[in-house]
Amino acid sequence: MNPLHLLPPETAHKLTLFAVKHKLSPIAPPDDPATRLELFGKTFRNPVGLAAGADKNAAALAGWARLGFGFVEAGTVTRFPRQGNPKPRLWRLGNGHIVNWMGLPNKGMDLFVAHLTQFQTAPERKKLIVGASIASPENSTDDLRALAAVIAPLADYLTVNISCPNVDAHDHSATAMQEQVTAVVSEAGATPVLIKLAPETNKETLQKTVESVLCAGAKGFIATNTIPWSKHELLGNTSFIWPQSNGTAVGGYSGPLLLETTDSMVRNIRDIAGANIPLIGCGGVQSGKDARRLFTAGANAVQIYTGLIYKGPRLIADINRTYCAQRQQGQPPA
Ligand SMILES: Cc1cc2nc3c(=O)[nH]c(=O)nc-3n(C[C@H](O)[C@H](O)[C@H](O)COP(=O)(O)O)c2cc1C
Repeated sequence: MNPLHLLPPETAHKLTLFAVKHKLSPIAPPDDPATRLELFGKTFRNPVGLAAGADKNAAALAGWARLGFGFVEAGTVTRFPRQGNPKPRLWRLGNGHIVNWMGLPNKGMDLFVAHLTQFQTAPERKKLIVGASIASPENSTDDLRALAAVIAPLADYLTVNISCPNVDAHDHSATAMQEQVTAVVSEAGATPVLIKLAPETNKETLQKTVESVLCAGAKGFIATNTIPWSKHELLGNTSFIWPQSNGTAVGGYSGPLLLETTDSMVRNIRDIAGANIPLIGCGGVQSGKDARRLFTAGANAVQIYTGLIYKGPRLIADINRTYCAQRQQGQPPA
């Protein structure tokens, strides 16, 4: 058993972040050129990314690079600091399952920018593709514009997180999304803007979203965010009891039961948006074999979070090994 799992989940997370930031975590083996890939004009050392939410304030970027990640999606950051939801809001449910109801706690844009600025001159900068996940839980296009203006010059890509299940106000109407994405794209200049989608297995609904944000200038997709209780049927039969707050089921699920939905979304988005759109599979990857499934479905790269909590950094090497093997057979789209 991972000794960190003896601690409450948020404490374990803080301790991990401290260790990664202060370079107390393991160092990855030297890069294998066979894992390199090109995506939106950038060279990634490998296709394994840290998903949004693990380093909300971009505090430990050099450490994640040392651990072996090819890219990190820092954030989600909001314009002003946020407390997030009341605790408890993170549940480790065993067997690879997590439910989180964090509600986008973060220290706000100014500290995020200070950390990114500091990282620009770090020796690890050359090794790591840095994405920045931004959101406005209040649906403020002005806030998104302000975030994009200061963060885009320091990041390799921006992600608009329109899919957090743990805040009240995300407006999923096509018009609202288009307006927000257009605003971010116009501030981002040459920095590509990706969209992080919520779980959606209905292809027609997905098609409307994909087409409308592409029209607004988005350059790629990350599928998917966590599954909220309202969509728990996507998980099939679960062996755990869904966490509640004041008698109501709260939060979003991540873990192995998400892989099926991620696979379906990756397939559908690839089909809708075509062979060249950058597509990152996220959700349920806890082994090289899981990643292989998403590469086969059409993902260029994958992101992990819950798998890192349960499997540790060896998961990065495991995915890279599978990627190389799959590439030798000529399979991944990259
Ligand atoms: C504790 C926790 C916090 C998260 N916070 C964010 C976030 O701030 N922004 C975001 O886009 N996704 C967030 N996510 C979702 C992950 O980025 C990812 O989409 C999801 O966990 C599925 O991947 P996984 O099965 O590898 O964990 C969070 C997930 C967890 C477990």
